[in-house]
Amino acid sequence: MVFILAVPIAAYAFWYLLAGDRAFPPDLAASFRARPWGIYSHALFGGIAVLLGPLQFRRDLLRRRRLHRAIGLGFVVTAALTGAVGLAMAPFAFGGAITRIGFGTLGAAVLVAVGTGYRRIRGRDVAGHREWMIRAYALIFAAVTLRLELPFLTVGLGGFLPAYQVVAWSCWVPNLVAAELYLRSSRVAASATLPRIADA
Ligand code: HEM
Repeated sequence: MVFILAVPIAAYAFWYLLAGDRAFPPDLAASFRARPWGIYSHALFGGIAVLLGPLQFRRDLLRRRRLHRAIGLGFVVTAALTGAVGLAMAPFAFGGAITRIGFGTLGAAVLVAVGTGYRRIRGRDVAGHREWMIRAYALIFAAVTLRLELPFLTVGLGGFLPAYQVVAWSCWVPNLVAAELYLRSSRVAASATLPRIADA
């Protein structure tokens, strides 16, 4: 399901590289024309990261260690570059301080999550690695939730500006909350099965 939602959003991001200026939403075009290096590299790395992430949670691929490592490295590099370029573009985002702080915090959070997830596996902490990578992908998935929410917010709030200010936060905060709830429930489930395994 996650992958199915990620595919059209990645295609939308790659469309930027093919269509250039023609892909820019009218309210964002001036800013993108001023910083083409930002938007094109961001769309390229973001499109790749959003596609690679779901592959890492497939059990069949998890078992193939070398493949998991290769795709994982691709995810770490592209997600970190997406977050870094997103952070660099955030001060120029449409919608003023609310939007800029929202996207800026998202970019910083992606860097923290991906960096911590990578350090955890270098330290052979598999459980910590899994948790931080789930957080990292929940944040990268903001690209999908943003584009699902924006049309409804634009109609509901009566315009693109208020919708964009809200979506700069609502595209990622609920994703992170959902990831934390999922991690908490999977920790509870794991601690419930451990004594039974120990008893056996
Ligand atoms: C998760 C960290 C991310 C951050 C911090 C971030 C940040 C930003 C910022 C600041 C902008 C410019 C907005 C403006 O100027 O008003 C933008 C636009 C854009 N981003 Fe991201 N982004 C992230 C993830 C992604 C991902 C994973 C993708 C790929 C699917 C992506 C694709 C795009 C596209 C295509 C645009 C152009 C605007 C549009 O057509 O909606 N972003 N992003």
